[in-house]
Amino acid sequence: MENLDHYYKTNQALWDQKTPVHMTSDFYDVPSFKAGNTSLMPTELAELGDVAGKKLLHLQCHFGMDTLSWARLGAEVTGVDLSPKAITVAKELGEELGIPARFIQANIFDLPNQLDEQFDVIFTSYGVLCWLHDLDAWGSLIERYLKPGGTFYIVEFHPASMMFEFDTGNLNVEYGYFKSDKPFEEVVEGTYAEMDSSIKHKEYFWNHSMSSVVNTLIKHGFSIDFLNEFPFSHYGCFPNMEKEDDKHWYMQGFKNLVPLMFSIKAKKL
Ligand SMILES: C[S@@+](CC[C@H](N)C(=O)[O-])C[C@H]1O[C@@H](n2cnc3c(N)ncnc32)[C@H](O)[C@@H]1O
Repeated sequence: MENLDHYYKTNQALWDQKTPVHMTSDFYDVPSFKAGNTSLMPTELAELGDVAGKKLLHLQCHFGMDTLSWARLGAEVTGVDLSPKAITVAKELGEELGIPARFIQANIFDLPNQLDEQFDVIFTSYGVLCWLHDLDAWGSLIERYLKPGGTFYIVEFHPASMMFEFDTGNLNVEYGYFKSDKPFEEVVEGTYAEMDSSIKHKEYFWNHSMSSVVNTLIKHGFSIDFLNEFPFSHYGCFPNMEKEDDKHWYMQGFKNLVPLMFSIKAKKL
């Protein structure tokens, strides 16, 4: 437990450092979002579908652009994130743009201390599972917060793509596919949104295999509508990627050979 505390405190400080850098990065393009463009990607827009009038909980919302984008589409949104800085920025963005939204700063595993209600939709996306030590507890949380008949939707980087050492471009296997109790520990320099920023910080993360994600949802009473795997990434967030267009990125020399994203839509029975 002491270790877990240390892992999450370290990651929280990392995301506090990343947030201001991300705010001004081309990657996140906040001015375009402020001008009215959605930050959501075509996959989740098509696959999650109409959220108008739905109560939507966004887990690990970072500084809230996706949460607010769902609100612009008519959802009644609540975003949750570990980073106090990210939540402060999310609240400010919502207020500045006059978009109604609620943002809560919490480790998602502690959310029941602050939130006691249920939602029609739970959404989470791109770079979330690797920060969580316990998928079973994650499944319990989703079960706890979704109304019966409600929809859970995740679009995430593929766990197979999380195995590679990207820096050389050779895709050598550096990280195990299957989760181990002890997290990977690294000192990250820069951030995916601004590779040459001066950030230098320790991080702890885990890889969760595809079967562990699917079986967690089944165990917690979900029926899976679909599981999709994609050979592209919507984000050029790893070193040595090449783009076909702004929304389709591949590992250089490995186009269509490596799964880079997956999505799951599931219903709570
Ligand atoms: C890569 S970002 C989420 C991606 C999001 N799609 C985006 O780009 O805006 C990961 C987020 O997870 C948050 N996070 C990490 N561990 C968490 C935890 N245990 N509980 C809540 N949030 C967490 C971080 O603070 C960070 O904002």
